[in-house]
Amino acid sequence: MKAKIKPLPEITWDELQQLTLDDKARCFNRSDRPLHILVAQQFDRPLLQELGDMATRIRQVAKSKQGMDFLGNLLSHKTAMLYFTQPSTRTFLSFHSACQILGMRTVEVRDTSTSSEMKGETQEDSIRTFSSFSDVIIMRSAIGGLAEKMAWMLSHTERPVPIVNAGSGKDQHPTQALLDIYTLQRSFEKRGGIDRKTVVFVGDLARGRTVRSLAYLLTNYERVKQVFIAPPALQIGKDILDHLKASGSEYELASDFEKVIPEADAIYMTRIQDEWDDKTGDSGKVDISKYSFAAEHLKLLQPHAVIMHPLPRRKEIAVEVDHDPRAVYWRQVRNGMWIRVALLAHIFDCSDSIRDYHGS
Ligand code: NCD
Repeated sequence: MKAKIKPLPEITWDELQQLTLDDKARCFNRSDRPLHILVAQQFDRPLLQELGDMATRIRQVAKSKQGMDFLGNLLSHKTAMLYFTQPSTRTFLSFHSACQILGMRTVEVRDTSTSSEMKGETQEDSIRTFSSFSDVIIMRSAIGGLAEKMAWMLSHTERPVPIVNAGSGKDQHPTQALLDIYTLQRSFEKRGGIDRKTVVFVGDLARGRTVRSLAYLLTNYERVKQVFIAPPALQIGKDILDHLKASGSEYELASDFEKVIPEADAIYMTRIQDEWDDKTGDSGKVDISKYSFAAEHLKLLQPHAVIMHPLPRRKEIAVEVDHDPRAVYWRQVRNGMWIRVALLAHIFDCSDSIRDYHGS
């Protein structure tokens, strides 16, 4: 039996900080569903399956004008705030498109130089202001844990609208991990699903928040092996390895990428995130050839394996690789939109209506 956790509106900030991520995840849910979407730990295997199935159902419904009209009516009474103070192309556009598919209105702040934060307003007051004009706040910030802080703060106000973390500092990017899982579910649909697969992560694993969230989600599957290949200073964090150990997941830290390619079912490439370097940092100088997927690597890769990347890429995947059917990073982008539609439908409790429509 798991210990009882106080719901978010009743817990103090200090108490919340004492909790493990798993317990925090329980705190961010209301009864059976997530209220806020803040960390990957909020998604268990049944929910990952449900959201993936729903995304596939939605893309089928969306094929016809009648279906699109139906979807576009579901949340036409709701408004989403997109608060993205860190650069974003795909995540912003896919949330924006997902909101539009469900008929939601959107308002956005991307540049704080045009908002009252320039006049010294705190982020807490900004978010509280946004909550007056919206029914959900989708936010990306360079500050780790900010989405969590704002969710806690709002839960103590009269308008505790859901917060969706669209990337927070170097810690988590749960909705990217969702789309990555959805891509893996689809890729291995006819090969027994994600169980027993080997997933190889390559690049900047210390600061790649997408990797950190996906590594957590993969522990929901049976006997998945995770291999981490990174320059020594940019290797995956000890907190993730501790979690893998505690959950009994198999993992390996490796340095020879070419040697690992033939055993991979999925290779997850990432760029070096040198924007996080401090004045003395020099990760921009890392020789990325050892952490890059070149065209000649394709012949080492199993025929059913997939090459993934959260994007944006720099040079860590050769452009020639894009034409290979095993390169699924452009598919990830499209999957991201559909899984975010499914997520918003779940948050606003309209998944049953979509199921009924699809079955009719
Ligand atoms: C990633 C991010 O912002 O964390 N991009 C994304 O959301 N698809 C990865 C990156 O910036 O390298």
